[in-house]
Amino acid sequence: MQRSNWLQGAEGEIDTSHVSFAHKDLSNDHEKVAITGLQYTLEDDSPVLSVKETDYGFLSGSRRHYQGKYFWRVTQWLAPMFSLIPRAPADAFTSGGGRAWVPVDDNNTTTFAYNFRVDRPLNADELQLIAEGAHFPPRMERGSIRLEQGHRIDTWLPTANMNNDYLIDREAQKTINFTGILGVNEQDRCLQEAMRAEAEDRGIVDRSREHLVATDLAITAARRRLLRMVKTLQAGEPLRELASGEIYGVRAVSKLCDVAELDDFIEKYREDARAV
Ligand SMILES: [Fe+2]
Repeated sequence: MQRSNWLQGAEGEIDTSHVSFAHKDLSNDHEKVAITGLQYTLEDDSPVLSVKETDYGFLSGSRRHYQGKYFWRVTQWLAPMFSLIPRAPADAFTSGGGRAWVPVDDNNTTTFAYNFRVDRPLNADELQLIAEGAHFPPRMERGSIRLEQGHRIDTWLPTANMNNDYLIDREAQKTINFTGILGVNEQDRCLQEAMRAEAEDRGIVDRSREHLVATDLAITAARRRLLRMVKTLQAGEPLRELASGEIYGVRAVSKLCDVAELDDFIEKYREDARAV
């Protein structure tokens, strides 16, 4: 259960530039960061972003410098609510993860995390790593919340949340990660839940006061796409995004390579991404 507006959370999932700072991990604990390949993002805080629209949504590519090559991280956005995020290049073809974003009401969202391998079941070590909650899903416990409309729902509540400052560790904040917060989900969620309307400490941020920049490229692409989908539905026409489940049969990809442009990357690694 995430205490944020659906789109404010889902946009954080689509944004890829924030991994260079929100998830920056200076602990040198390679086992910890290897699962997401984030160690390849440490050298370059200014990724070059590009987006390629597809039937199901889009691919979002971020290109960073890493040891004389480019580190590409190509995520999938499967409209309107699924993400696919790659692992480190060595594991990118066999494993991955992502989340489904499901709105509850304007101020609450349920997210379902998935982690998978395509070559074999997840082993005990991998399941243990997931259960520790440093990635997705977060540490959580059974509980319930009361929605504004009066309904009470039973759900899973994150252990680190805004009421306990996400269990912030001030020492870790000085040495390991500037948020001082343990998990990748907690780091994301504290930003997404903190985005509030100024007039009242809840609700939806006033978008007219935003200053979008180049690294918001994928977010603007998602907004345009969602608005187009709304107009299609309003016109009573079918959504091509939902034409067939088969079009969701794609993967996220990460690579260390010399390819400079997203179109060339897709051409070269078409079989890995199975994207277009
Ligand atoms: Fe994140």
